Amino acid sequence: MSFTLRQGLSTDRDALLALESRAFEGDRFNRRQLGHLLTRANAATLVAIDEHEAVIGYATLLFRRNSATARLYSFCVDPARRGMGLGRRLLEAIEQTAIAHGAGRLLLEVRADNRVAMGLYRRTGYVAHRWLDDYYEDGCAAWRMDKLLDDTPDESVTPS
Ligand SMILES: CC(C)(COP(=O)(O)OP(=O)(O)OC[C@H]1O[C@@H](n2cnc3c(N)ncnc32)[C@H](O)[C@@H]1OP(=O)(O)O)[C@@H](O)C(=O)NCCC(=O)NCCS
Repeated sequence: MSFTLRQGLSTDRDALLALESRAFEGDRFNRRQLGHLLTRANAATLVAIDEHEAVIGYATLLFRRNSATARLYSFCVDPARRGMGLGRRLLEAIEQTAIAHGAGRLLLEVRADNRVAMGLYRRTGYVAHRWLDDYYEDGCAAWRMDKLLDDTPDESVTPS
């Protein structure tokens, strides 16, 4: 599958709204929230675009002033494009975006029943450290997970 990643623009709002309604059953952002996310200064959004310029995935980070921790606020792939590596690529790219903004740690919450997302996060180095009861609007619990982001090159040391 071919796709490109680019920064989210305010003109992506309606495409993200449609994607959210395909990707999530509840706890979706509305039009106003998405418009705000795409324009607020302390957020960064990456969108994945297919060969027809259709938006097929996105991820949004939030930053807090004077904090080296960024939060993965939203992350989804179009149901028709899942299981083809896009989610992993998008996650890697948004981690690089966090590093470029000076973050050393990425924090996220994930539904306790979301095995696919939790598996992806675990395999890419996230650690679950807090259980949040009754976190989502349907009463589902969440895991809070985090990962230390490493922007230093992997230098192997040869013993003398
Ligand atoms: C989580 C999500 C973004 C993953 O996107 P994706 O494009 O399917 O991800 P990938 O194809 O890169 O697959 C990621 C990993 O999950 C595995 N995977 C994907 N779909 C799977 C499935 N249905 N069952 C089991 N494993 C699956 C892949 O094998 C891959 O494993 P790897 O890390 O060992 O390579 C996507 O499922 C999604 O949008 N879900 C709904 C929204 C959501 O849950 N967002 C996260 C909120 S915290």
